[in-house]
Parts: sequence; structure tokens; C-alpha cells
Amino acid sequence: MDINYAELMRLAGVARESAYAPYSDFKVGAALLTADGVIYTGCNIEISSFGGTICAERVAFCRAVAEGEREFLAIAVCGGNEPCPPCGICRQFMSEFCAGNFRIVLGSSPENIRLYTLDEMLPCKFGSETMK
Ligand code: THU
Repeated sequence: MDINYAELMRLAGVARESAYAPYSDFKVGAALLTADGVIYTGCNIEISSFGGTICAERVAFCRAVAEGEREFLAIAVCGGNEPCPPCGICRQFMSEFCAGNFRIVLGSSPENIRLYTLDEMLPCKFGSETMK
């Protein structure tokens, strides 16, 4: 499949507008592409008990997985004017469902994006195979 990464970043930017971030005021949006070409979006949601906050990337994954999706190709993350690298928990969450060549799209706008692989962002990962 030809992936339109710029469009994925545009949709992450739209999702960012729904972010609920009254404590950090740092809004993040994500757009997750499935192997079938469906796109699920997410935004960060903060709560007053800060540890219960959930990142935009995991919201997108949770929406998709809850709909039965299990195969993913790429995710775009938009945190405003600077690239917003996914946090460690989100990288680990991605690795539960995605292969090492899963693409992570960072940038500030559709015109300014850079592609990474999950392998690049989470080398030497812990996984189910580690427990065998
Ligand atoms: N955040 C995300 O949504 N995604 C990331 O990749 C990094 C951080 C959110 C969590 C919190 O609501 C805010 O950004 C500040 O950490």
C-alpha cells in the first residue's frame, strides 16, 4: 500500500484539536493507519490525578484495538510546532501490536515530516519472546 504520510500527519493535527490537556497545556494528536487502510485518531487526555493521563498514541491504539484491529502500518504524532517523539510507554504499547518496521511519523506539519521505524525508536525491546 502507498502510504500518504503527509495526510496522516494532517489528521494527527486535526485530532490534536480535541486534546484535553488542562494541566500541562501540551496538546498532542495521533493518527494510526491499519493494514486495511482504516485510520483511527487519538488525543491526549489528562486527569487531575496526573498518573492516570493517557497519551494520544495510546488513545488511538485503544480505539483501534477495541474495534478488533490488530495490524498496523504507521502512526503520525503531532505535538505542535516541534516534533513530538512518543514516550517510552507508548513505544512499548506499539511494540505489543506492531512489527519492527512499523512507521512512526514525526513533524510539525504535513509539509515537514520525518519517518522512523519502531525498531529505531525501541531497540532491545522487552517482548513476549523474552518470557519464553
Ligand atoms: N503526551 C502524549 O500524548 N504523547 C506523547 O508522545 C508524549 C506526551 C502527552 C501526555 C501529557 O498529556 C502531555 O503530553 C505532557 O506530557
